Amino acid sequence: MGSEKELPIYGNGNVAPKKRNCKMVWSLGLVLVGLSCYLLSGISNTQGYLGDTFRSFSGDDGKNPDSLCPIVEKVKFSDFVYESDTVDRILHDAKFRNQSIEKLLGAVKYPTEIYDEMTRPEEADSVDELLKIEPGWKYFQDFQKYLKKTFPKVHEHLSLDKVNDFGLVYTWKGKDENKKPLLLTAHYDVVPVQKETLDQWTFPPFTGGYDGKFLYGRGVSDCKDLLIGLLETVELLLTEDKFSPERTIILAFGYDEEAGGSGAQKIFKHLVGKYGPDSMLQIIDEGSSGYQEMEGLNVILPATGEKGYVDSFIELYTPGGHSSVPPKHTSIGILAKLLSDIEDAEFESVITNANPVLNQLQCLAEHSPLIDNDLRKNILKAHFDTKANEALLKYLRAQVSQKFLVTTSQAIDIISGGVKSNALPEHASALVNHRIAVEELVKSTSEKVLGQIKQIAEKHELGLIFEGQTVYEPTEHGYFNYTLRQGLEPAPVTPTQDEIWNLFGGSLRHFYEDVVFAGESKEFVFAPSLMTGNTDTKWYWDLTRNIFRYAPGLPNPHLNIHSVDEKTNFDGHLLIIAFYYNYLQVVDQLAQ
Ligand SMILES: *[C@@H]1O[C@H](CO)[C@@H](O)[C@H](O)[C@H]1NC(C)=O
Ligand SMILES: *[C@@H]1O[C@H](CO)[C@@H](O)[C@H](O)[C@H]1NC(C)=O
Ligand SMILES: [Zn+2]
Repeated sequence: MGSEKELPIYGNGNVAPKKRNCKMVWSLGLVLVGLSCYLLSGISNTQGYLGDTFRSFSGDDGKNPDSLCPIVEKVKFSDFVYESDTVDRILHDAKFRNQSIEKLLGAVKYPTEIYDEMTRPEEADSVDELLKIEPGWKYFQDFQKYLKKTFPKVHEHLSLDKVNDFGLVYTWKGKDENKKPLLLTAHYDVVPVQKETLDQWTFPPFTGGYDGKFLYGRGVSDCKDLLIGLLETVELLLTEDKFSPERTIILAFGYDEEAGGSGAQKIFKHLVGKYGPDSMLQIIDEGSSGYQEMEGLNVILPATGEKGYVDSFIELYTPGGHSSVPPKHTSIGILAKLLSDIEDAEFESVITNANPVLNQLQCLAEHSPLIDNDLRKNILKAHFDTKANEALLKYLRAQVSQKFLVTTSQAIDIISGGVKSNALPEHASALVNHRIAVEELVKSTSEKVLGQIKQIAEKHELGLIFEGQTVYEPTEHGYFNYTLRQGLEPAPVTPTQDEIWNLFGGSLRHFYEDVVFAGESKEFVFAPSLMTGNTDTKWYWDLTRNIFRYAPGLPNPHLNIHSVDEKTNFDGHLLIIAFYYNYLQVVDQLAQ
């Protein structure tokens, strides 16, 4: 990235403004908002030291009652944890490190690649039949055996439900039935490796390797590292045999997150059947990692929201005929005009308190010592002052990386039509992909496109069918058939500033300030973020509102997720274990 200054907005946000009157009422039906999440990587890499300047912005250590982004109170692990030496061993002991490397490297050796078109377990009558159709599932079975061998105490003390044969739900039953379980999730499928790229890998993708700092292999950052880290943590706690949970801890691992996550849907049904809706204290899944340095601030940015999703599939049928006597516009020409209109009319940008991104910006505005002063003022007023809001949107829209955090996107991804040079095309079709802004819905997204199709249909006297309903009767000139695919509303946004937010954020703040960077006087702000993509949590909304997409780690701009040389900073992997070693014991004592 160039040196041009960008505001690194990253993940999520969401916060109700305190003590301020919103003078504006947003007409949400009209305005579309979007988000984009992983946009800012590589932006503004300023040093992490904040010193006094930082404090002066945050006021009384973040206790300013008007603060839009209060700094969470640290949660000191020593008040909760049985064995405080263990974390030191996890982070610094060569032997521990060595065996941890071996465990993650071992997990890489199973090519649990998932393809979109792969037959899923529920589509075969039995596992044997499935393996005949799709031999690749054998690697998933072998991976399960690997887990059993590698984590013997986990398999001895936790119950394991295999949901749909491949979804893995481990339950560490707590003594207190009244405490809501904690649900920690990950997936063990990986994105396939393209054969053509094999010679570009530093280590073969399914052998893996360690170069003294980074561990390489497909899946090591998305997200076998998290899955293995969670199991290492529980294995360690069981080995020490001091912590015996009051609260049930559930580890749930999906097997096709990279291809729709139907496995997680099955896991959801299993969990909601057993525990009921709204039964989990908190869900923590993959998502953002570690922390970011932005505008002179260290920020920990769990994703508290996800954009929605829908594909618009538009077909146009027209009469055929000989190309020597064509109409002025063929189906392809008409469709081309429509697509061009769709691109010309972008979705509007909106930013309100509903979008985690606004709260993230407020955190930067309140606590960053470096942020531009005009921008700071606009951010802090954006939720009640129209002018400030417009100025902020203008600023965000100007940067591709941030524009889609506040706008629904539209990408024409597939087109087809016509078969022969001397025959008029009787059918043409296009697919437009949308990632839906937090303030929007599948319905409002499709309404924009439908309005544009209507205009073209009227002009060319064409019929229009939308989702099986006749809008205009088909005519002798033909008709549009507009259908929606894979509609998913934006995720409900995780509450901030409640008890769970404060406990999780306070634990992470203590972890980074006093454990990871002990003695360095670094300071960390816990703020929400928004994801433009989806994780398995899209199936888990009804289990709790407290969903966090985040894993501890170290800043690392080049993890090469989904591409050649996927890797993870191994020190970051150890942070997963060290954090959860503490957090499982901390969260155990919370009353709810
Ligand atoms: C771990 O230790 C074993 C035995 O000393 C050694 O063979 C192996 O190479 C070490 N692994 C790593 C990743 O250092
Ligand atoms: C419209 O498209 C849908 C989905 O592809 C299809 O099921 C339906 O039969 C089509 N209707 C017409 C009238 O072409
Ligand atoms: Zn993933």
